Amino acid sequence: MTTPATAAAPPHTRANPFPAKLITNRSLCGEGSEKDTRHFELNLKGWGLSYEVGDSMTVWPTNDPALVDEIITRIGARGDEPVKGPNGETTLREALFRDYRITQTTSKFLKTISQRAVNGAPLLSELLKPERKQDLDTYLWGMEVVDFLIEHPSIKWTAQEFVDLLAKLMPRLYSISSSLKAHPDQVHFTIDVVHYESRGRMRKGVCSTFLAERANGVPIPVFPNSSKFRLPEDANTPIIMVGPGTGVAPFRAFLQDRQATGAKGKNWLFFGSQHRHCNYFYEAEFEQMKRDGFLTRLDLAWSRDAAAKSYVQHRILQNAAEIWKWIDSEGAHFFVCGDARRMAKDVDAALRKIAQEQGGKTEDETNQCVEKLKADKRYKRDVY
Ligand SMILES: Cc1cc2nc3c(=O)[nH]c(=O)nc-3n(C[C@H](O)[C@H](O)[C@H](O)COP(=O)(O)OP(=O)(O)OC[C@H]3O[C@@H](n4cnc5c(N)ncnc54)[C@H](O)[C@@H]3O)c2cc1C
Ligand SMILES: NC(=O)c1ccc[n+]([C@@H]2O[C@H](COP(=O)([O-])OP(=O)(O)OC[C@H]3O[C@@H](n4cnc5c(N)ncnc54)[C@H](OP(=O)(O)O)[C@@H]3O)[C@@H](O)[C@H]2O)c1
Repeated sequence: MTTPATAAAPPHTRANPFPAKLITNRSLCGEGSEKDTRHFELNLKGWGLSYEVGDSMTVWPTNDPALVDEIITRIGARGDEPVKGPNGETTLREALFRDYRITQTTSKFLKTISQRAVNGAPLLSELLKPERKQDLDTYLWGMEVVDFLIEHPSIKWTAQEFVDLLAKLMPRLYSISSSLKAHPDQVHFTIDVVHYESRGRMRKGVCSTFLAERANGVPIPVFPNSSKFRLPEDANTPIIMVGPGTGVAPFRAFLQDRQATGAKGKNWLFFGSQHRHCNYFYEAEFEQMKRDGFLTRLDLAWSRDAAAKSYVQHRILQNAAEIWKWIDSEGAHFFVCGDARRMAKDVDAALRKIAQEQGGKTEDETNQCVEKLKADKRYKRDVY
């Protein structure tokens, strides 16, 4: 017989996410770091849901209230004006805080600026022509809604027409860096907090700074996002994990999970970051796992500690014979997480080079081999 607790449907859904509580927000970087990468722990007690290692979590942020206030002032409003937003009737202030994307512009916002600007905004009008799309993107890099309000103070807006020109605020995804088997009722994240300067102003990434600066004591709406980035079913299968930067997140979760279940499979982690002294995330944990023999191999690449860049794919290539032995003779699964634009492509090229040179394959055979690894779910990527 099921107990009432297990029979009840989970109370939380994607449309009604769980209000998690922040319990830990600590820096993973030491003095001298150029990055602000942080470790977060959220309490999920009573959420009635579950996640697997390899999953990500959807997080719904709110906007920076200081930026909300500035926008209200710059459009000549008070904040208590009623508006109809994507989530129903509310005030202008609440809508800008919770419902709308108030940093990046939309094309309807830019078109309105170009139509209503006193001087006609000639540069913007020119860049809005379809054939100038790429130039417009370059121009908009580092430009936010507030920059156009500053540049065109004479444009008059009603609260409703202003919000109608904005896009809906979207949630963000984060790789889960913990296992429920090691941390029941918790989820951990490894997040690079986005701060940058443009046009003389400090800018803040919406969700990463929500978690880093504004999430203390407020509910953090979260909902798990299932993934195909899964540990091998057989706990004896060796795994090779390539996760530079915050790409290490799911591998911390994999290792916690395998440790908690006593999995006997060998574990090899490639981690890379800028400087060893200030960017070795989870150093104590990984070094302990290595000393215990649980982390069979740990290879590190520090990109800014020497004149020549050292990246994870360089470490991979230096260990070509051993990697090929793990994959070809021992059936290892090969995982990659992090930046899709450059890192994942370079790591893919390194894997192909190893298959070709160590496996003595032609280019066609190498491609077939990599496709087979993917089809057999032995080469998995969580990159974007
Ligand atoms: C499946 C998945 C998993 C992910 N996992 C993680 C993870 O584990 N850890 C993690 O940190 N992130 C992760 N991300 C990325 C994360 O979802 C967010 O995109 C990231 O945190 C930025 O969101 P934000 O709201 O803080 O910034 P946003 O408000 O979205 O701002 C980012 C934008 O700011 C602009 N920008 C940034 N830097 C500059 C600059 N120097 N000059 C001008 N403009 C700039 C760019 O337009 C950029 O797109 C993951 C993404 C996906 C899809
Ligand atoms: N699940 C996911 O899809 C996921 C998870 C986490 C992060 N991300 C995204 O991945 C990106 C990077 O994240 P991050 O800020 O944590 O990393 P990062 O600190 O920018 O980079 C980590 C390391 O990778 C190096 N690197 C740069 N180019 C490389 C290349 N071509 N090959 C191998 N290594 C390279 C960097 O070196 P230098 O900077 O010195 O060149 C640095 O040492 C971000 O866009 C982040 O949002 C995605």
